[in-house]
Amino acid sequence: MTIMVFGADGYIGWPLSVRLAKELNEEIIGIDNLITRKLVEEVGGTSALPILTPEERVKAYEKTYGKSNLKFIIGDLTDYEFVDKLIEKYKPHTVYHLAQQRSAPYSMIDVYHAAYTQVNNVLTNLNLIFAIKKHSPKTHIIKMGTMGEYGTPSYRIEEGWMNVQYKGKKYRIMIPRDPGSWYHVSKVFDTYNIIFANKIWGIRATDVQQGVVYGSRTDDLVNNELNTRLDFDGVWGTVINKYFAQIIAFNKILIYGTGLMKRSFLSLQDSIDCLFLLGQKPADEGEYRVVNQMEEIYSTIELAKKAKKIVSKYGFDPEFVRIPDPRVEKQRHKYSVSHRTLKKLGFKPKYSMDQVMEVIFNDLLSNQEIVKAHADAIWPRVYWDKLNEENKQVYLNAINKNLVSRSKSYINNT
Ligand SMILES: NC(=O)c1ccc[n+]([C@@H]2O[C@H](COP(=O)([O-])OP(=O)(O)OC[C@H]3O[C@@H](n4cnc5c(N)ncnc54)[C@H](O)[C@@H]3O)[C@@H](O)[C@H]2O)c1
Repeated sequence: MTIMVFGADGYIGWPLSVRLAKELNEEIIGIDNLITRKLVEEVGGTSALPILTPEERVKAYEKTYGKSNLKFIIGDLTDYEFVDKLIEKYKPHTVYHLAQQRSAPYSMIDVYHAAYTQVNNVLTNLNLIFAIKKHSPKTHIIKMGTMGEYGTPSYRIEEGWMNVQYKGKKYRIMIPRDPGSWYHVSKVFDTYNIIFANKIWGIRATDVQQGVVYGSRTDDLVNNELNTRLDFDGVWGTVINKYFAQIIAFNKILIYGTGLMKRSFLSLQDSIDCLFLLGQKPADEGEYRVVNQMEEIYSTIELAKKAKKIVSKYGFDPEFVRIPDPRVEKQRHKYSVSHRTLKKLGFKPKYSMDQVMEVIFNDLLSNQEIVKAHADAIWPRVYWDKLNEENKQVYLNAINKNLVSRSKSYINNT
């Protein structure tokens, strides 16, 4: 019995792979092309928690848990032949698909980064769907989407579908999507591609729409050799990590715009627990299931206040600095999310946000040399309403070396 994790070297994919391998007596195959490591470096960032190579990670898992059921294959999932052979060989009963470019700011840098993001994300997903149809049509695909696909509408965000009344008649319609970046648009493409594959081929899938995931540890990552990545730069870091990095590097917290923009959040532990549970309680054959996962909703200014309170215990007294919002987004809005399915399946969140935030801060503080050495990358440099020409110099080398040629060749091949 085999389970595959696409994106097994990533922030979520690595702790998920460890959890699956540790808990189940099945073969867990992780696949990754290690691209996140390179793209974070491209913008001057790095993981605050040092991470091992995939080979070393697998050895660390074996040493820690005394099992040898975790394997790692390096490869690019945009290559259909590669995906076809993988699925044909292993015929996994479950594939977790997390192998995507996941940074909204990265996708907004310029046309090459937008194209790379969309081509990479749409192709990895499409390749998986076709290979599953061909070699293993009953496989359960657990596809990682994002709450960001829905945007911040004034109505309650139901799980997948909603009941509406129009001209006196009642309808059940798919929740409209309102993505907020080229990255989020790529995730919406994926959603439609999976729904379409389900409609024509009965592909069995769970579409997991998770909020922003925060946290640096899970219960299974019991020593530093098992670390997962922890990004804190302005492009790859999520809001909580960025606040703590700003405090450590500049004793400031940068508040974008009004600071009243709300988002949904869940811890890394909860993300892994949810993904594990969804594998154990799969969608039915032929079913397309949508699961919203978030535990708390906060505005960015509420999070900044939480961060300030936590660091005050460590003698920090950061200044709030308001800056124009680099993103184009609603500055004041309602935000309400339905997330019943996981509860029905027995899911319970584990730690409070304050507990987890303190652990993140401690992880960043004990690696403060790394954070300070990458201080330039912490400031926001990507603007939604500009073509970011002023960033050209910053990104030029990397773009010339990798992305232009790669994006072009990908586009030519599709
Ligand atoms: N981190 C979050 O807050 C969050 C929230 C909601 C949804 N998600 C989604 O969860 C998934 C995983 O996110 P993450 O934070 O772990 O990101 P990550 O970048 O750390 O992990 C993604 C992994 O996929 C790999 N990858 C990308 N393209 C690939 C390709 N073509 N072939 C092989 N491997 C490839 C990367 O190298 C990386 O290791 C993504 O789909 C993301 O959109 C993340």
